[in-house]
Amino acid sequence: MRATRVSEGIYRLSANVSNILFEGMWPVPNGVAMNSYIVKGEKCAIIDGVCAWDGVPETLLAQLDELEIDVRDLDYVIINHMEPDHSGWLDAFRNVREDFIIYTSERARPLLEAFYGITGNIKLVKSGDTLDLGAGRVLAFEEIPNVHWPETMATYDTKSGTLFPCDAFGSFGAVDNDAPYDDTLQEEQIEFFEREMERYYANIVTSFSSATQKAIEKVKGLDVKVIAPGHGIVWRRDPGRVIRSYTRLTGYSQGPARAEIAVLWGSMYGMTEMAVQPVIDAIESQKVKTRVHRIPESHIGYVLDSVLQSSGVVLAMPTYEYKMFPPMAAVLDEIGKKKIVNRRAFRLGSYGWSGGAQKELDEIVTRNKMKWEFLEPVEFKGRPTEEDVARIRQRGIELARAVKSWALAD
Ligand SMILES: Cc1cc2nc3c(=O)[nH]c(=O)nc-3n(C[C@H](O)[C@H](O)[C@H](O)COP(=O)(O)O)c2cc1C
Ligand SMILES: [Fe+2]
Ligand SMILES: [Fe+2]
Repeated sequence: MRATRVSEGIYRLSANVSNILFEGMWPVPNGVAMNSYIVKGEKCAIIDGVCAWDGVPETLLAQLDELEIDVRDLDYVIINHMEPDHSGWLDAFRNVREDFIIYTSERARPLLEAFYGITGNIKLVKSGDTLDLGAGRVLAFEEIPNVHWPETMATYDTKSGTLFPCDAFGSFGAVDNDAPYDDTLQEEQIEFFEREMERYYANIVTSFSSATQKAIEKVKGLDVKVIAPGHGIVWRRDPGRVIRSYTRLTGYSQGPARAEIAVLWGSMYGMTEMAVQPVIDAIESQKVKTRVHRIPESHIGYVLDSVLQSSGVVLAMPTYEYKMFPPMAAVLDEIGKKKIVNRRAFRLGSYGWSGGAQKELDEIVTRNKMKWEFLEPVEFKGRPTEEDVARIRQRGIELARAVKSWALAD
């Protein structure tokens, strides 16, 4: 864990975590940063803890020492979000100090009790409530429910214009603690975090895109000069850039997205596979980029990212026990649950005697209200004939053209 200065009286405490699956399921090959912040007036507040520190009180104390902050001065603990990646440190913090006051939203109260048995010393705040730290430093609270849990709120330092939005505006990717700010990074490093942000968004935020849109509207009403999220880098030079990125991503979940097509395919014995390269070639002949994933080999974390970025989707899979190839059904259902809606799509696949994959596909798309607009599917018995392949190529071209005319410009 390292402490750095964001601006006068504001410090970022951060630890990078790697070799984990985030939330127990999402791959983070480039790690993820867990940030908390200390805001100093005459009194001191800590905003969002980090569970990533080793839990040994000395580690936190050493960091505070470095900042010349006495733990006894940490009067206020501000919990923007109760997910244990931000609140899990409370147990350990109680070992170094017992009598702090928690500022949090009404909906966080039962979670505080259920997770940590904390029932006292809680001040419940609503949008517009403030906390005066003295020395001209007033923190204002803004509820941003369902980004990412129902209790989520953001904290805004009125003195410096710094917004602490927790999960919102966050990204995956470990952060070099010598240079954790956009103004200390090269353009290609910022772009790295923007790519990490896309997968972060697709994996953990996209289901809450409409709540995120509302949160962005609220943020636009504030004079935000710095964005200091719970994960990723701090946006000090150009907070508008991350707001624009998030606005774009909320739009992608509703469609259209980029002029790209995600090709998701699975095959047991290679019959469906025979039609996969032809459809990719046909799409690319129209100068439309593809993002190809074999199912189930590709982790759902990456598949969701590709589908979120793409305006078009090809689903290629055989029939299996009168239904869809099961790992593809699971993936499609997950995409539906994540509410990635309104796509142009095409399905192809092999069957042996009766088919059945198409029926299950229709069920999943309807059940999840996905509003995907499909071209007529191409199904073939066993190996695809030359005519089948020709039809598949034709559909690939049609899909690519539809996507090109509908997608958003980059
Ligand atoms: C375990 C298993 C179950 C299958 N169930 C069905 C089925 O219910 N209906 C059907 O028409 N074909 C069924 N098939 C046949 C496959 O759909 C057919 O072999 C197809 O060509 C496989 O395509 P692939 O090589 O791309 O996996 C089944 C095949 C297997 C191995
Ligand atoms: Fe969260
Ligand atoms: Fe988080």
